[in-house]
Parts: sequence; structure tokens; C-alpha cells
Amino acid sequence: MARKPILAGNWKMHGSTAEAKALAGGLAAKVGQQTDRGVILGPPFTALATTLDAVKGTNIIVSAQNMHFEEKGAFTGEVSPTMLQDLGVTHVILGHSERREIFGETDELINKKVASALAHDLTAILCVGETLDQRDAGKTNDVVTGQVKAGLQGVTTAQAPKIILAYEPVWAIGTGRVATPEQAQDVHAAIRACVNGLGLPGDDIAILYGGSVKPDNVDGLMACPDIDGALVGGASLKVEDFTRIVEFQS
Ligand code: PGA
Repeated sequence: MARKPILAGNWKMHGSTAEAKALAGGLAAKVGQQTDRGVILGPPFTALATTLDAVKGTNIIVSAQNMHFEEKGAFTGEVSPTMLQDLGVTHVILGHSERREIFGETDELINKKVASALAHDLTAILCVGETLDQRDAGKTNDVVTGQVKAGLQGVTTAQAPKIILAYEPVWAIGTGRVATPEQAQDVHAAIRACVNGLGLPGDDIAILYGGSVKPDNVDGLMACPDIDGALVGGASLKVEDFTRIVEFQS
């Protein structure tokens, strides 16, 4: 099965509902009819409904940036998988390095979230990535494949179509310091081998690269055989930039 490219925007904690409407509406007009590549927008919780509304009638997919693994309960400040489903959200980013580093999310917690997302028929976009210290110590592949194994524990082959992976080196996120295509390709190949080693169909699972993806570096990254798309932060907040990223050429 050929892997379809996926270009995903992670808006992080940015945007009023008016800004979300303008951004999603602008992208709906520019790239809403793409069929040979998937386009995903990840607004903050407060702008999910507005974004869903703005992309109605297009092929654009809307993703949350996080969720709790329980359906309901005394979890002040949290949002559940059923709440996302209720809005019409189909995808959720899990295990982003900002969740891991700033909010203390562990592999174990992230695995519970992945399992819950799949149990609720949501597609999980599972993020993994090493810090600069880990890279400098030569531990990149061990760290990243360790996160993949932990995050996917218990996932079955039948659930694999609802998994997207994102390799996001922590040192490249928001820093303007992008991994070279060679660096990224090496890790993507290691991740794919790891997924296959788990008995899952690694060749069918999209692995996105994230970390300072911009209009001027996306083409080189997308030319790599194991890079199936991009998870984009800063450059996903501008219609023009994200359009160019969706329209990558390789
Ligand atoms: P960036 O963020 O593109 O701003 O580096 C990527 C991400 O964190 O997903």
C-alpha cells in the first residue's frame, strides 16, 4: 500500500476563534480539495468547533492536540475522547515533546492515551523525539524507538490504520534548526524497522517529520523515502506558508 503524504499543522496555544476561522477558511480555499495528500489542522481546544465549521465540505481533517484517556470524571481541566468525538474531531496529537517535557507526560501515560484514542476510533498522531543531549550522546535511535515501542504497546494490526507517527527532534522544534534530510531519514528508517519489529505493518504507517519545517526546506525532507509528511508548528499559522508546505514538490 502506497503511503499518502500527510501535512499537519500544530497550532499549539495560538489563535482566537476569529483567527482560527480566518486561517482555516483561508486554507480551505487553497488546499481544501487536495486528494493526493492529507491535510490536517490542529487548533487549540477552544477553536476546534470553529475550525471544523470552516473546513466543512473540504477534505481537510481536524485534530486535537491532546486528550485525557478517560471518558469522563473528576479530571479538572481535561478533555475526553468522547468530547472530541462529539464535536466531530477524528484525530488527536499525543505525546508531543512539549507535553512530555513541560507537563511531565510519561511513556506510560501516553500509551494509555493512544489506547483510548484507538478504542474511540480516533486516529492517534503519536510524537517521539530525542533531546540534543541524547543525540550528542549517540542515543537517538534508542530513545526514539523506545518511545515508539512504549507508545504503541498493545496496539493491534487491525488498529494500525489509525496510527500516524511523528518524529520530532526536540532540538529542532521552534528553534529554526531543522534536521537535515539525511538525519531525519535515518531516524525514520529506524522507526519503520522498529514498527515492523513489533509485528505491525510499518510500511503502511505514515511517519511525519516535525521541527522547523518551512516552505524552503519541506521539499528536501519530502524527497526522503521514509518521510511521509510533516508536522508543522510555526509555519502552519500562516495561510501562505502552510499552503506552500502542503504543495511541496519532490
Ligand atoms: P515548529 O514546531 O514547526 O514550530 O518547529 C513543530 C512541532 O512542535 O510540532
